[in-house]
Amino acid sequence: MPKRIRKAVLPVAGLGTRFLPATKTVPKEMLTVVDRPILQHVVDEAMAAGIEHFVFVTGRNKAVIEDHFDNAYELEDTLRRRGKTKELQALLDELPDPGACSFTRQQAPLGLGHAIWCAREIVGDEPFAVLLPDMVTMAGTAKTRCLAQCVEAYGKHGGNIIAVEEVAPEETHQYGVVSVGKDFGRDFEITSMIEKPPKGTAPSNLIISGRYVLQPEIFAILENVEKGAGGEIQLTDGMKGLAASQAFHGVRFDGRTYDCGSKIGFLTANLAFALERPELAEALRAEARKLGL
Ligand code: G1P
Repeated sequence: MPKRIRKAVLPVAGLGTRFLPATKTVPKEMLTVVDRPILQHVVDEAMAAGIEHFVFVTGRNKAVIEDHFDNAYELEDTLRRRGKTKELQALLDELPDPGACSFTRQQAPLGLGHAIWCAREIVGDEPFAVLLPDMVTMAGTAKTRCLAQCVEAYGKHGGNIIAVEEVAPEETHQYGVVSVGKDFGRDFEITSMIEKPPKGTAPSNLIISGRYVLQPEIFAILENVEKGAGGEIQLTDGMKGLAASQAFHGVRFDGRTYDCGSKIGFLTANLAFALERPELAEALRAEARKLGL
């Protein structure tokens, strides 16, 4: 029986330069998809996968993230006095348990691999999940979201798990890409991986979608990994090192991801999530028609 996945690392130190000026004072993870910050959608997904402890790797100007996962005393008191019980209850219900969030700072933007390494003391010696908040996922027909499907695959294979999805071959150079070995249909053995392969050289069109289950041995490897693509310490390079001694499986998860690191992905996520809401869907369709969509 593999060890249970209790902790998740969420790297949230990125500067959000693609969303300036919106991200001048507001962290990009706090931009909203409908009425929830991107980060809250991702924490929802982690909670649904059984995660009990959230490790946020933050940076300067990100203090509002810490506040978001805490009581907002004045607001709650005002809602209480005004009898807005439903709104108040909704806020209280989704508050993580006391002590369930840890925050550590990356200090310098040295790359995703470095951000994950910054969580080593808090994670300790147990397998853990990683969720990249740029990627917002929506459940498919399976009704479970991406990380829950990764945890399920981990229950079956143990070792390390990476969620993957297909993209058009001309998009692979923007992502980490994996190669498929023994194939079980939905999951498969990963035989190699590469971060941001130059155009036309990707070994497949299966990209790393931002959800992982990793063994703690990754930390010692990340400590020594050389700078890779973009001059940054890459998580993919660390995983490549770990793959020399441990199994990695890919999961073609059921569902969709919206890359909220890009404007089109962010805008599409807003439409897709709004269309899932009965009280918004009809009115939004009507407005979209007026826009000629
Ligand atoms: C990161 C990972 C990459 C992955 C991508 C998903 O890249 O390094 O392997 O495919 O997230 O969004 P980044 O988006 O930080 O460049």
